[in-house]
Amino acid sequence: MIKSCYHKEVFKTLRMNCSHRFQRLHTVVCLRNKTALEKMGSCNWILCVMSLLLCMSQMTAMYTPDWDSIDSRPLPKWYDEAKVGIFVHWGVFSVPGFGSEWFWWNWQGAKSPPYVDFMSKNYPPGFTYADFAPEFRAIFFDPNEWADLFEASGAKYVVLTTKHHEGFTNWGSPFSWNWNSVDTGPHRDLTGELGDAIRKKSLHYGVYNSLFEWFNPMYLSDKKNGFKTQEFPRNKILPELYNLVVRYKPDLIWSDGDWEAPDTYWNSTEFLAWLYNDSPVKDVVVTNDRWGAGCYCKHGGYYNCADKFTPETIPKHKWEKCQSIDMQSWGYRRNMKLQDLMDLPAIIKDLVYVVAFGGNYLLNVGPTPDGMIPVVFQERLTGLGGWLKVNGEAIYATKPWRVQTENSTLTVWYTSKDSNVYAIIVGKPTENLFQISAPVTTKSTVVTMLGTPTPLQWNALQPAGLIVLLPKIPDPPGQAWTLKLEGVS
Ligand SMILES: *[C@@H]1O[C@H](CO)[C@@H](O)[C@H](O)[C@H]1NC(C)=O
Ligand SMILES: *[C@@H]1O[C@H](CO)[C@@H](O)[C@H](O)[C@H]1NC(C)=O
Repeated sequence: MIKSCYHKEVFKTLRMNCSHRFQRLHTVVCLRNKTALEKMGSCNWILCVMSLLLCMSQMTAMYTPDWDSIDSRPLPKWYDEAKVGIFVHWGVFSVPGFGSEWFWWNWQGAKSPPYVDFMSKNYPPGFTYADFAPEFRAIFFDPNEWADLFEASGAKYVVLTTKHHEGFTNWGSPFSWNWNSVDTGPHRDLTGELGDAIRKKSLHYGVYNSLFEWFNPMYLSDKKNGFKTQEFPRNKILPELYNLVVRYKPDLIWSDGDWEAPDTYWNSTEFLAWLYNDSPVKDVVVTNDRWGAGCYCKHGGYYNCADKFTPETIPKHKWEKCQSIDMQSWGYRRNMKLQDLMDLPAIIKDLVYVVAFGGNYLLNVGPTPDGMIPVVFQERLTGLGGWLKVNGEAIYATKPWRVQTENSTLTVWYTSKDSNVYAIIVGKPTENLFQISAPVTTKSTVVTMLGTPTPLQWNALQPAGLIVLLPKIPDPPGQAWTLKLEGVS
């Protein structure tokens, strides 16, 4: 039987199917097994089959630089289970802290009057955008403090803007001479320091990277040539992106700034094939869908579609909604006002809706140039964490249920995990009887409210649904409560 393990036919098929590289791999595995088998003196079919399976799984993991192949890659499992992430927009734009992170563009690209006025009123003539960089000092930046906060928020991943459209890199990129956080500003490797702190917490670490740079002369020249030349991707973007990946081994690449040029200009499929086949993060890395004009909502890993994407029916493909607590800006604004911010119930309502629709929720904060996360954002994030501590069972690693939402006296959103169904009530019920229509109960149905210990009384409704006697409910600032339904269909 040992012989059949190495039967000619098997090898022939493998040779026909495996690429060179995996033939080699298989040979190594089989030879290793052979030695072991010979030692044992009897055939071990399991080992043999395992080596074949290993070979086949590796074989299917060879991605080619085209969308059919790139899009066929299964999304690493951690991402869907994580559900909640924190987005951090931090860069030189945090220094003017006015309007939004698009400050430079609004001021000198669009020449928008409020920005032009802001500069002429508050800065000397001749002051350039680059002059803001020395004020990006991060003097209070304590990456471990940030990581503590992000962990306490209940998020499972963190995505930092390692380079926004301004082109300033938050690490010592060798391709961004004098326009990076090590040569100027903080004189620190912000990307690396935050990454180390995040990973100590066992959270996943992602990098946001803008492909285009508003005012990069190489980019502008390629653009003038109708993107028929590739000086910018060749000399800047691609080497820099490889550098970023090899250096920081991100679990997620949040690509952006792609929309002016086709994916062939950015060499996106070539990059992604390398990322998925040969990079140090090939098995864990997750990417989004911003890889060239027309790609979003169509190609890549999970879909972001538009910023703050808010679908009305459940999307067919894994997706993520990015949303900023400051509804006017992703970056820090000194002119932020309380009424511009989402309050905690609004954040939780949004999160619950997104998860019921199968999405992930990436909630953004903009730190100050000093490296502080504004206290009001800290308060929102710890509030979110408090809610998730009680209700996380209805969020993490859940799947959409057969019904996503219904309106009772309040709106209810459904999620499910294993055989449990979770009905999340958004808003505070004013009566102690609460009715839901979609679940079909059985004799063995048990209803509890997450955060309260004893099962609740309920009555079945015909033809479906139930009416639940709510307990005296705790009153969390998140203003959403979860009914856990066991034994329903
Ligand atoms: C972009 O991809 C093409 C092949 O499609 C390749 O010839 C070229 O070298 C790539 N450029 C870079 C900078 O990787
Ligand atoms: C519930 O009510 C809201 C607000 O009136 C409405 O937009 C939504 O479509 C309703 N949902 C369902 C499932 O009927």
